[in-house]
Amino acid sequence: MTPRIVVTRKLADPAMALLRDAGDVWLPDPDRTLTTAELHAAVAGAHAVVSTLQDRVDAALVDAAGPQLKVVSTVAVGYDNIDVPALRERGVVVTHTPGVLTDATADLAFGLLLSVTRRLGEGERLIRARRPWQFDLGFLLGTGLQGKTLGVVGLGAIGTAMARRARAFGMDIVYTGRPGTRRSDAERELDARLVTLDELLRISDVVSLHCPLTPQTRHLIDADALAAMKPTAFLINTTRGPVVDEAALVDALARGVIAGAGLDVFENEPEVHPGLLELDNAALAPHLGSATTETRTAMAMLAARNAVAVLRGDEPPTPVRS
Ligand code: DGY
Repeated sequence: MTPRIVVTRKLADPAMALLRDAGDVWLPDPDRTLTTAELHAAVAGAHAVVSTLQDRVDAALVDAAGPQLKVVSTVAVGYDNIDVPALRERGVVVTHTPGVLTDATADLAFGLLLSVTRRLGEGERLIRARRPWQFDLGFLLGTGLQGKTLGVVGLGAIGTAMARRARAFGMDIVYTGRPGTRRSDAERELDARLVTLDELLRISDVVSLHCPLTPQTRHLIDADALAAMKPTAFLINTTRGPVVDEAALVDALARGVIAGAGLDVFENEPEVHPGLLELDNAALAPHLGSATTETRTAMAMLAARNAVAVLRGDEPPTPVRS
């Protein structure tokens, strides 16, 4: 029997071709994010669902699909939108796309850091508003990174790639993570030092978030954490919005509790806290971490390979293990 493969958002052509070779592919036309009701209707009878981070994947989705569902393959490294235990309980394999978006996401994180510390957004807004300006020794002065300390929260693949970029800019590295997650290899390579979250917040000039969103990391950066940071420090978030209490961040940025923030993700995406829009010390991007043609193609190919492997009864390249 030909498997039914539901693809919730159109993927790069080579990935669509791979899936079409493996089964009957359904995808929304036109390409758009489905409501939960539409998603549940679409997955009925599916053997594989290739989803994105916007799709809520839980027991209700598996029930809507039916008992033949074998795999949910998300085109993302993060899978906080998926109730993994519920799917596992129902015999559905969950896969994701680690590895292929590491450099793109670290590039974007470092880009946001440069943007906020060198006030690039402010400069561009000023020019586009046609406001008068001229070169001036005191004009739009930013903050240099050399000799400063980067604090990485979550020294996994993307955190490590961010730290490598920071080392190339002359920064020192400290990091923190879940208990028992010492990274001796990265410590040697980057001369990185493991510290507690409290110490990291206290001593870092830049705090960059790379931990997954879990019940433990939701609002990890709240008003108290922000108050613990240096008033000259910057916060970079390219992981998931709810790791930061966005209202507390707006307040901290407005009152100068910290110097600035670079954000690629938001607590209630695609909504952005209106306070952030008023602040010149916030550099904002619309969840672009992995958004290069090369990376999105690689993510799509890996997601397609994962789905096809499970449909064929093989071990997928990158299952969710936790
Ligand atoms: C992910 O993969 O989790 C990103 O947020 C989107 O690329």
